[in-house]
Amino acid sequence: MNSLSTLSRARSLRVTTRPQTVLYFAIRSYSGVATTCHGPPNFQRRSSPLTYTTKRPISSTPHPQIKEYFPPPENSAVKEVDSAWAHPVYTEAQVQSVRVAHREARDWSDWVALGTVRFFRWGMDWVTGYKHPEPGQQLSERFKMTEQKWLTRFVFLESVAGVPGMVGGMLRHLRSLRKMKRDNGWIETLLEEAFNERMHLLTFLKLAEPGWFMRLMVLGAQGVFFNGFFLAYLISPRICHRFVGYLEEEAVLTYTRAIQELENGHLPDWDKLEAPEIAVQYWKMPEDKRTMRDLLFYVRADEAKHREVNHTLSNLNQAVDPNPYHTEYRNPARDHPSRGIENLKATGWEREDIFS
Ligand SMILES: [Fe+2]
Ligand SMILES: [Fe+2]
Repeated sequence: MNSLSTLSRARSLRVTTRPQTVLYFAIRSYSGVATTCHGPPNFQRRSSPLTYTTKRPISSTPHPQIKEYFPPPENSAVKEVDSAWAHPVYTEAQVQSVRVAHREARDWSDWVALGTVRFFRWGMDWVTGYKHPEPGQQLSERFKMTEQKWLTRFVFLESVAGVPGMVGGMLRHLRSLRKMKRDNGWIETLLEEAFNERMHLLTFLKLAEPGWFMRLMVLGAQGVFFNGFFLAYLISPRICHRFVGYLEEEAVLTYTRAIQELENGHLPDWDKLEAPEIAVQYWKMPEDKRTMRDLLFYVRADEAKHREVNHTLSNLNQAVDPNPYHTEYRNPARDHPSRGIENLKATGWEREDIFS
């Protein structure tokens, strides 16, 4: 079923039948409270995919003005725009086998990367009022995550996550031009990672349209993070890839927790919610695996792949080693890094395991 058209129908139905007394009131804030709805006492939130009024739960855009948040191109000659990077197909067993993992810091540069990630994580959790529960710990009501809070968190994090791959790819591209040397394939993988993170963002934006406050936060974060990462990558690309590897460890943790909350019945609006069409097409989701839960498994698998790729790239000689993810190996019988997740190594491939 085409979830986009279904939701569009639901929206037009809602606009014509909604009682005038219902007042939608959206608070855009990254501090956790994403949406508050006020209405008459008998007003209830609808949760089936057909009447899912919170498709954009952090929106205050007047509904009659909405058609599609980012619709296909309006050009009679164009049907759809193709992507240059087809996503590798993941099997159900593969996406379910992803685990939270941590690569121990082994030298001072690893500690710099890990310390920076921990500082960012602490700062963001503090600003947004987020608390990660310890095993067996029950959080107070204030720290309970709702569907809206998760979406707000995903949108912000994905808007930041798309930066490092683009900066790394851009700087390696410029270095290749400047030094008149081959790059040995790294640029494609880095740009593909940035593209993949942007697809995560676009997917979640089909479920939640950010307001002005969120947009301001994204703008500020991008301005600071892009420039900071740009300078850091000029100084030490190796530490930067380790930093992204640790950042992706946190991303896997975040999506794992969201999946657990969904499976434990704490996110009822997502129980039967279908994945947006953009996700179905991008991940080539099988017909019986197109729910919000399945989507979270796919996104988490991508984050696990970024975790592996960046830890691996950090283990290599940045100037001379070829990109092991775009390499034809002399001995195909041996396990090697690949674009998919069939040989996923949570803590990355060591240099000697690839090239010796
Ligand atoms: Fe992502
Ligand atoms: Fe990622």
